[in-house]
Amino acid sequence: RPSKASGARGLRFTPVAPNTDDAVTVPEGYRQDVVIRWGEPILRGAPAFDPEKQSAGAQAGQFGYNNDFLALLPLRGEHDRQLLVANHEYTDEVLMFRGYDPENPTREQVEIAWAAHGLSVVAVQEERRSGRLTAVSRHRLNRRITATSEFRLTGPAAGSDLVRTSADRSGRKVLGTLNNCSGGTTPWGTTLHGEENFNQYFANSSRDTDKRYGIGTGATERKWERFDKRFDVAREPNEVHRFGYVVELDPYDPESTPRKHTALGRFKHEAATVRLTQDGRPVVYTGDDERFDYFYKFVGSKRMRHGNSRWAREHNLSLLDEGTLYVAKLSGDSPAIEIDGTGTLPRDGEFDGGGEWIPLVTATEDGAVSHVEGMSAEEVCVFTRLAGDKVGATKMDRPEDIEPSPTTGKVYVALTNNSNRGKAGYAGPDEANPRNSNKHGHVLELTERWNRADATRFGWSLFLVAGDPEDPATYFAGFPKDRVSPISCPDNVAFDDHGNLWISTDGNALGSHDGLFGVATRGDRRGELKQFLTVPTGAETCGPLVQDRRVLVAVQHPGEVDGASVEQPASSWPDGPGKIVRPAVVAVWRADGRDIGV
Ligand code: FEO
Ligand code: CA
Ligand code: CA
Ligand code: CA
Repeated sequence: RPSKASGARGLRFTPVAPNTDDAVTVPEGYRQDVVIRWGEPILRGAPAFDPEKQSAGAQAGQFGYNNDFLALLPLRGEHDRQLLVANHEYTDEVLMFRGYDPENPTREQVEIAWAAHGLSVVAVQEERRSGRLTAVSRHRLNRRITATSEFRLTGPAAGSDLVRTSADRSGRKVLGTLNNCSGGTTPWGTTLHGEENFNQYFANSSRDTDKRYGIGTGATERKWERFDKRFDVAREPNEVHRFGYVVELDPYDPESTPRKHTALGRFKHEAATVRLTQDGRPVVYTGDDERFDYFYKFVGSKRMRHGNSRWAREHNLSLLDEGTLYVAKLSGDSPAIEIDGTGTLPRDGEFDGGGEWIPLVTATEDGAVSHVEGMSAEEVCVFTRLAGDKVGATKMDRPEDIEPSPTTGKVYVALTNNSNRGKAGYAGPDEANPRNSNKHGHVLELTERWNRADATRFGWSLFLVAGDPEDPATYFAGFPKDRVSPISCPDNVAFDDHGNLWISTDGNALGSHDGLFGVATRGDRRGELKQFLTVPTGAETCGPLVQDRRVLVAVQHPGEVDGASVEQPASSWPDGPGKIVRPAVVAVWRADGRDIGV
């Protein structure tokens, strides 16, 4: 294990040892504090959090549940303040409500859950001499978006027969966003949010298209369909076609209607991150988090306008409506050597190869064109998984976050795990997904041809093959394995200003808690992975953000352990024994006030 506070610039800290403490643990010499918790009032008139007297009205003005993606945006003209945007992926009713009966949720509980989903926008105040942040309640830009807020559907599928419902004959006005997992911040000052496991909210479907998305034939676990028929596919067949998109929010305009971009396809979007082409057009990378599913990129055809005028902002909000959506197809460059049932090793010693971006649909001002035989443009945008199937895209080990490095342009894809790889009836290993029953996941590094974001060909190699470094199947970009931290199930990725990659995990299969890691991607320390923090019992580590003076993480679903409930909690984080467990955002900084890891 790495033991010293040496390392690449930005990563000079003493790594945290793997552990199972019910706490956020940080390196020696670092401090931490909660920035905001589930239930803290952020809107004018919202009451203080009281878990015993929670109401839907209260929740709609309070910070939501299960924070995942985080963005911090500048607040011009306001000293020492930034604007925090957070995703609220899903609700954990049994940890939210005392005496919750999963067979008979009440209307009030369901409506609280609707209000606890979605997004939060909240101004935060920086403390002068530390990295501490505190929420500014009632700031004019503070906002909650929930499962019932109004959205505008845009792009090729908007207005089509596939998305019209009895409540919305226009096919353009959707209520709510669900299961926002990770996301991205655009260079034009908006935020993107991936609607991920939307299937779990919809009941009673028998269509093949829904089956491909994991939508069940019976009741859902939350039973929302009892309270709003739009969640019952048998009664409202097209509502489910209005979820599973990349959502765009303009956090600077509290009156704006957020959008759902059908041009970026419909699947279990984990994240959406942007790089600009040399001539200023947006390229968005986005993955579909499912075993044996694909990752994609969208290449916009319109250039971003600079400046903050209403004219520029309005134009930029339409950038993701026109362009081409591609899916990735990868091939290895060397024959495989089978290693006794566990997977394969490449004969040339490196997991690498080439790939192409296969076009699926192009949206223009005058309409959209499908590139997939037998599917219309609208169908490609709504049943994107089926389009990927038809063109033979590469089946990956659950593409989670995907992000281009702002310093090199190389793109990093977190592939979290795949318990079914190599099992009877499923695809076997390939050079890009080399392990059977992949328990610990890997991280792929993709280089666009000529380093052009809009290239249609790319090279790739595996940057990390995760696990215990003592496991011979692991790989840390060639760095000596006796000097790296063990890692399992990479999920979210982020970059610091030094070009280091930060990776958070979800589902650590090595027996210790999830955490956050930093790793250099360049220089002679490339591959030196160091653990920066760990999270409490049952939690996953989300939304990492690394600024000069602080690291921000979203501690999602603390206490989520089989059999746990409000009455029998598995965690007492963050407020101590006897208090309800609360997902929260945490800031970490150096006690001596200097920058992170320098
Ligand atoms: Fe919500 Fe794919 O993690
Ligand atoms: Ca190879
Ligand atoms: Ca995730
Ligand atoms: Ca995950």
